[in-house]
Amino acid sequence: MDKGILREIENLKKQRNAIILAHNYQREEIQDIADFVGDSLELSRKAVNLDCDVIVFCGVHFMAETAAILNPNKTVLLPEKDAGCPMADTVDVNQLKEWIKKYPNSPVVSYVNTTAEVKALSYACCTSANAPQIVRAVPFNSIIFVPDKNLAHWVKKQVPEKELIIWDGFCPTHHMIKREDVIKAKEMHPDALVVVHPECIPEVIEMADHVASTSGMVRFAKSSPAKEFIIGTEVGLLHRLKKENPEKHFYPLKKTMLCPNMKITTLHSVLSALKENKHVIKVPEEIRIKAKEAVDRMLHLVS
Ligand code: 13P
Ligand code: SF4
Repeated sequence: MDKGILREIENLKKQRNAIILAHNYQREEIQDIADFVGDSLELSRKAVNLDCDVIVFCGVHFMAETAAILNPNKTVLLPEKDAGCPMADTVDVNQLKEWIKKYPNSPVVSYVNTTAEVKALSYACCTSANAPQIVRAVPFNSIIFVPDKNLAHWVKKQVPEKELIIWDGFCPTHHMIKREDVIKAKEMHPDALVVVHPECIPEVIEMADHVASTSGMVRFAKSSPAKEFIIGTEVGLLHRLKKENPEKHFYPLKKTMLCPNMKITTLHSVLSALKENKHVIKVPEEIRIKAKEAVDRMLHLVS
């Protein structure tokens, strides 16, 4: 590790009164320099009332956008402008508007993995950490749920009383995991508990001992008496799991569970972001205000 770059980042952070937020899927070295590492819900919460001028968001575009929605007076930087989310990109705004017209009594609940424009069309947002609670709390019997169909099916199982009109989106990193992968992983580690993310397909979720958001997995691993865990999410989370539970063992459900977008950000990108003030994420005010209502509703519904 080049200590020079770490020092430079630290100095620039002080000069600019900046805070680094990192998602649990970021590279190890990025997690290690971050002021806060978390899941989408924790990062959204953290972004509110941060005492800083600059937020360097090491994650993907929709996450930095959420921070910008909540912090209009701060500079929000996404170190790599091409760090997007293919699942968020599946929502076509015009098609969503058609659905809203077609189902006038069904408000939209959008996973935070959406653009600000989609959030602005939503009644409330949700994350993988709170989706069932949000769907239960929304005072309508029918809901348009975008964009993750796997998360939607998992929610529906827990909240069967609500009708969900489901968008056909998914996360390629989680969707690729099949039953056979779980069987193989269990054969290799017969004593391990299987923990998977709700973005996995229903057949995989059915085989799991526990289903949780990324930080939910961290809490589960800490509190469980088990010593071994097969982790069914992006492999970046294993760094935090191992760091916080050095006496336990964690195995990726599949080593290829990688999100290329989450891995673009490097220490060099963070340094350039702070030096050159790039890439500033701004949401047009009219969209920001509407999107904020949906994010705030989420934060209040589950506080
Ligand atoms: P969480 O960290 O909220 O579980 O989100 C997973 C994810 O895929 C983010 O892109
Ligand atoms: Fe999007 Fe999946 Fe990557 Fe998360 S892991 S950013 S949902 S593609």
